[in-house]
Formats: sequence, C-alpha cells, structure tokens
Amino acid sequence: MCGIVGYTGAQQAAPILLEGLTNLEYRGYDSAGIAVINNKQILVSKVTGRIANLCERTNDGKSCPGTVGIGHTRWATHGAPTDTNAHPHMSNNGKFAVVHNGIIENYMNLREELINNGYHFESQTDTEVVVHLIEMYYNGDIKKAVKRTLARLEGSYALGVICADEPEKIYVAREASPLILGIGIGENFFASDVTALVQYTRNVIYLDDGEFAEITPESIKIFDCAGQQIKKKINHINWDIQAAEKGGYEHFMLKEIMEQPRAVKATISPRIKDNEIVLDETDLSVDYLKNIKKIVITACGSAYYAGCAGKHAIEKLCKIPVQVELASELRYSDPLIDERTLLLVISQSGETADTIAAMKECKRRGAKTLAIVNVVGSTIANLADHVLYTWAGPEIAVATTKGYTTQLAVLYLFALHAAKKLNRIDEQRYDNLLKVIKTLPKRIQEVIDMNPSIPKLAKKYHKHSSMFFIGRNTDYAIALEGALKMKEISYIHAESYAAGELKHGTIALIDEHQPVIALCCNDSVMEKTMSNIVEVKARGAEVLAVTFRNNQKIVSLADDVIFIPQVEPLFSAVVEIIPLQLLAYYVAKENGCDIDKPKNLAKSVTVE
Ligand code: M6R
Repeated sequence: MCGIVGYTGAQQAAPILLEGLTNLEYRGYDSAGIAVINNKQILVSKVTGRIANLCERTNDGKSCPGTVGIGHTRWATHGAPTDTNAHPHMSNNGKFAVVHNGIIENYMNLREELINNGYHFESQTDTEVVVHLIEMYYNGDIKKAVKRTLARLEGSYALGVICADEPEKIYVAREASPLILGIGIGENFFASDVTALVQYTRNVIYLDDGEFAEITPESIKIFDCAGQQIKKKINHINWDIQAAEKGGYEHFMLKEIMEQPRAVKATISPRIKDNEIVLDETDLSVDYLKNIKKIVITACGSAYYAGCAGKHAIEKLCKIPVQVELASELRYSDPLIDERTLLLVISQSGETADTIAAMKECKRRGAKTLAIVNVVGSTIANLADHVLYTWAGPEIAVATTKGYTTQLAVLYLFALHAAKKLNRIDEQRYDNLLKVIKTLPKRIQEVIDMNPSIPKLAKKYHKHSSMFFIGRNTDYAIALEGALKMKEISYIHAESYAAGELKHGTIALIDEHQPVIALCCNDSVMEKTMSNIVEVKARGAEVLAVTFRNNQKIVSLADDVIFIPQVEPLFSAVVEIIPLQLLAYYVAKENGCDIDKPKNLAKSVTVE
C-alpha cells in the first residue's frame, strides 16, 4: 500500500520526508519519491526500489533544499513499478506536484479529456490526471483549483499537493483512504499513517471522507467538500512506533482482517460501471469463451481454496466445467490441457514457484492464461496473457486474509461477467447478483461487527489439539480455508471434511475431544449439514456452527453459534470466512503463537 508524507515549516523538508517514508516502509512499496519547493521551483527526485536508493540519490536530502515538501512510497497499481510511474507527479507547467494513495476510478475518461485539452502524460498512473486537472483549474487560487479537481474525482484518495506559486502551503484531501494531519510548533505535517509522524508530533487530526485542508507552518485550515471551514478534534497519540505500524492492532493479521471491507471494495468498485461489470483488462471475446471446453484453476494453499469456492460460482453461472488443481500436482500430472482450456492462475504474491511452473506447463500445451494476482509486475502477472489484479494492498502477515477474500471477489466478478457475455444469465438475475457483489464489503463489515464474542469462543476452544471443519458444497470450500487458517497460525491440527463424507470412515475419530466447526450457510444443503451436526453431537463432539442470522433452528442443535448476515450462497465465502479467520487468530493468541510469522512458513514460497 502506498504511503504519503508532507512537511511545511522552518526545517529542511527532505530529511524529514525521507525519515517519514522510512517509517512507512513496513507497508510495502516498490518505488519512492519526494518533491520540495526551492526558490519557487519544485525539485523532484524519484527512484524504483528502496528508500535507501532515494537517500543515496538525494545525498540524504541535501540535494533537495527547501522547507516545504511531499513524499511518497508507491505500491504499483496502474502502471509498472518504474521511476516515471513513481510519485510525486508534476504538472506540465512545472508549478504543481502531487502525491496520491488510492485509485482514481474515472481516470480513463479524465485522461482523455485532458489530452483533448492539450495536456501530455508522462506516466501510466491514474494519479497523473489529478495534477493536470489542478493546473487546468488554477487561476491564482490553489484552494479553488483543488476543490474543483476533487469534485471531478471518483474513487479513493489521500492527496498531497504543493504549488510553486504558493510556496508555504500544502493542500491535502481525503476520500476513502486514510490521511492524518500532524500539529507541530511553527511547523505542520501530514501523512497516510501516524508512524510517519510520531517522532515529530503526537498531536494529530484525522481527516474524514470528503474533507480537504490547507497546511502552512503556522496554521491548519480544514474544509468540508463545499469549501466551508470546519473545526476538528485534536487527538493525542500515545502508541509506540511498533503499534503505530499496525494501526494500533496487536498483529498485522488482525489489521489485515479488519481491512477486508476496504480491500474488497477497492477490488470490486473500479470494475463496476453503470451497473455493468467491466473487465477491460481481460479482453476475452464471446467467441473465445464459447469455444473453450473447460476452465482449469491452479494455485497453492489459500489461493487454491479460493479457486475451490470460485468453481461453484463459475460453473453455476457460466455452465462451463471447472477443474481446480493444486499447482504442485498439476505440473507433474501430464494434464489434459490444450488451446481450448482457459487457465486461471491465482496467487497473492505472484511469485509462488509451484504455481509458476504449473502455469508454464499449461502455456506450453496451448492454454490461454488469466492471472488473479495482488502484486503488480510479479512473475505470474508478467507471464499471463491477461491479469486481473486484486487491489488488496501489501499483505504482511504470513497467513493470507485480505489476499484470499479479494481473490474471491475477482472470481465472482469474472463468473458473472462471463455468464452475461455468454448469454447464460437473464437480465434480472444478473442485476440481482451484481447488487449482491456490490454489498459484499458492507456484509464483511457487518459480520465483523456482529461477532464481538469470538475471543470468548477462542478461550473455550483453544485447548483442543485437533478439530474438524465440516460443510457441504460452497460451505465445504470455506471449511478448507478455515481449517488451513487454524493450522498455520495456532498449530492445532484441523481437518476439513465434506460433511456427507464423514460417515465413510472419519466419523470413527469423532468424540468429546474433537470439536466440530460446522458451516451451514448454503440453503440447498442446510438440512443435510444439520443432520451431520446431530450425528457428531451423538458421538460427544462439541459443535460450533456458523450460519445465517435467521437460522434459529441451529441454536438447539449446536453448542455455540456464530451468526453471519444472509448472503447468496454462490458468493457467501467472502463473508463466511471472516469469523473463521478471527477464530483462528484469537485461538492462536490464546496459545501464545507468533501469529504474523508462524513457524516453518514464509510469506512467499519461491522454492519447489
Ligand atoms: O502468494 P500465493 O497466493 O501464491 O501463495 C500461495 C500459498 O502459499 C498461500 O496462500 C499460503 O497457503 C498462505 N500462507 C495461507 O495463509
């Protein structure tokens, strides 16, 4: 995720910006840059790679003198990680520089309009439209130009703007992306995250969506979207730096679980325009889709389990057979894959060795490849014929959470989009399902808010050395991921089982020492799974059920129940997994495990 920082005061800005960016390094980035105003001129320095390179390039900031500046660490979204795509971006007349976190969703239209108005673009980024709009609207009043620009933007942003003609001022704005103002004495700051500021000030103001501000060394003026000045509360930060990096959460995993409503929204919303799913990135024609015999999904770990859940949605909606294959198996299986196979490759990191090898093998056999990847410019993204990025931002905890749910979000979009292209869904159902997809971020937030008692459940279940996760159909796909989460961070043996399969042998293991987590969110098999609950209860197991909030029947069957909001089963995995992530997290915490860095595991598995 990008990080931004800005300073205006009496000190040299560049060293403060570099320090602030260094404190934001933990967020992940691929390039960095600063812009400083010196004698009414903006000096910009940007590099691909580490902040250390930027320090070297600027001689620790000494080659960028000036007391007002903005800085940025970029996590590539639109355009590869290059020096040119790095922020800050400059206006054509050299008077303005901009840093930006977030995604400008309508940037294509704005870009076209600006090109028609004679502006030229240096980068492939969405951000660059912002700086050209400001130049276009500027006629001696930066506040007016910023306000008019903000009114044109759709999407999410935390913005920092400097203007060579008004050299003491910085303008900042926020919409769906965090932005904090830091209050000093004779100096003021802004940043995307308190970590960048705590060594300079602990007095901060949090901007809310739709607000913008003018910062000078002596004052901070905050405005609502109509441009009216407003008053805001000053907060005092008493976190240490380490806690600040985690946004006040104890672990990155918990922070990333809580980020899921935003990550899923960032993945979905740029791809829905005028009530239509638009996947410009794929360009798969109707003729091509009609001609394929099957879709093969390949991946490892949680990405594979996302594929298992996605299979249900694709098959049901598109009526195309889907095979989900572990990449480590597929590569050595002499697979029946040819040019009439569409290969979906799923990977958070884009660098998983087994997935890359399976992908190469399938490409060799003629398959077209569509990758669902989180890291722009990664190996898998580069190898694929088409890429649909998940806009989860960097994931730091080894156990994936927002990586997995954003993969599901992309799979749902793909399934519904392809079904429409193939004419295999009527308008009414398409509209209804699109509505469901749009509300998923809200549902995720609801499920988090509805379940404050999960830490209490963790206290009850954490002592067991083994547990079962059962479900049928889509619920089974979620059981697979739920059990993996429990295993990898709490080190408790957890077995996922198709509920109907228990009686074919495994039920012999069920007794009072094996709690069963029963997933019961798919109406079409609900009664069947409830019978399985009765069976395991009869053998002494304690049952923790996860079900929709109106399913009161289950209360009399299970020992404990986690309720979630009702969601169309085809798309429910993205909501249903949340309590299982939280349960695994709190169980691991009870057991004193190293949650963000579980033993024997690496974030990116680049060896076979
Ligand atoms: O980066 P990838 O998505 O390709 O990684 C695949 C797996 O290694 C990954 O999902 C792993 O299973 C996670 N630790 C699960 O939380």
